[in-house]
Amino acid sequence: MAESNLEREKKAMAVATPIQIRFERFDGATGIAPAKPPRIATPAEKVDLVRRIKARLKALDAVFVAHYYVHPDLQDLAQETGGTVSDSLEMARFGHDHPGKTIVVAGVRFMGETAKILNPEKRVLMPDLAAECSLDLACPADEFTRFCDANPDRVVVVYANTSAAVKARADWMVTSSIAEKIVAHLHAEGRKILFAPDKHLGDYIRRATGADMLLWNASCVVHEEFKTQQLEELKLAHPGAKVLVHPESPRGVIAMADAVGSTTGIIQAAERLGAKEYIVATDGGILHQMRKRLPGVTFIEAPTAGKGATCQSCAHCPWMAMNGLHNLLEVLETGGNEIHVDPAVGRKAKVCIQRMLDFARVHLPAMRGSGDA
Ligand code: 13P
Ligand code: SF4
Repeated sequence: MAESNLEREKKAMAVATPIQIRFERFDGATGIAPAKPPRIATPAEKVDLVRRIKARLKALDAVFVAHYYVHPDLQDLAQETGGTVSDSLEMARFGHDHPGKTIVVAGVRFMGETAKILNPEKRVLMPDLAAECSLDLACPADEFTRFCDANPDRVVVVYANTSAAVKARADWMVTSSIAEKIVAHLHAEGRKILFAPDKHLGDYIRRATGADMLLWNASCVVHEEFKTQQLEELKLAHPGAKVLVHPESPRGVIAMADAVGSTTGIIQAAERLGAKEYIVATDGGILHQMRKRLPGVTFIEAPTAGKGATCQSCAHCPWMAMNGLHNLLEVLETGGNEIHVDPAVGRKAKVCIQRMLDFARVHLPAMRGSGDA
């Protein structure tokens, strides 16, 4: 019997045991970071947890903002409670524009920090503060500062997936949905660019814009695993399928794409291209919104480490998977896991984020998370 969407999602999102994630540092050395999955709620627990979470959000005047990669239960909750499910840019915009006194962020740490930097007067909570990102981990602020100091003629552009301290050293912050536009703008002004930390995103933008870009050496542990040969084989097996790729993927995978974009961009491309089948090269959490938006369309996860090989994350971010219903309710009941950013660092970091938001208001207006109610 064919597996239902729900069963597929459950299997894909359930992380059974704690894992140690190996990530490559900027200097080629490897680091290890643990990722502890949350307790999986039984169907009976889920009803009770959802009811209590909704009540606490209301009592705290809190808005719940979730990324497309988190568990479908959390995505649905964000939508049902007037929050948003979206990409990093819209998460930042939505939390910033919302009048709620508390922002609850289901995602990874840099997303919570960005919310806090933009809204220092608000309380920002996260289900698990240890939800890291391999890009952030591979870009330590002191090394990054030395890199910038050694290249004073370059405007410093950093990806959102960085610490507050790295953002404090930057001129511009970008997310994947606006990086190309901002770099093209700087290139048109004749500026040379230093870009960190994602080498694949940087390489993609450099080729798209022709800008002079010096790149930091780091990558996403999830997107790094997509493989061209296996993708080629999958395409042969599904000749009508269109390929949608996040620009954190390696160059060869991007070259095979029918559309390249941020998470929101990928969902919009699926709606625009009108195919019956899509192969999706990004975290599988996004398929929940895609299936909701396009019922009857088939979505296939792009292959990761190839036949018989093992993959670390298998197209599921281990840190995004740390967000669950139990730890979400716990922070709402205890007020624990509050994000704190040193105010002086936060004030400096805000400059590059605000610059992006101001640019987005003019050049990328009214883009909302595709799953918004
Ligand atoms: P988006 O801004 O496209 O949602 O990307 C965030 C991210 O971490 C992708 O891995
Ligand atoms: Fe970071 Fe990759 Fe996870 Fe996105 S998917 S949060 S880039 S590790």
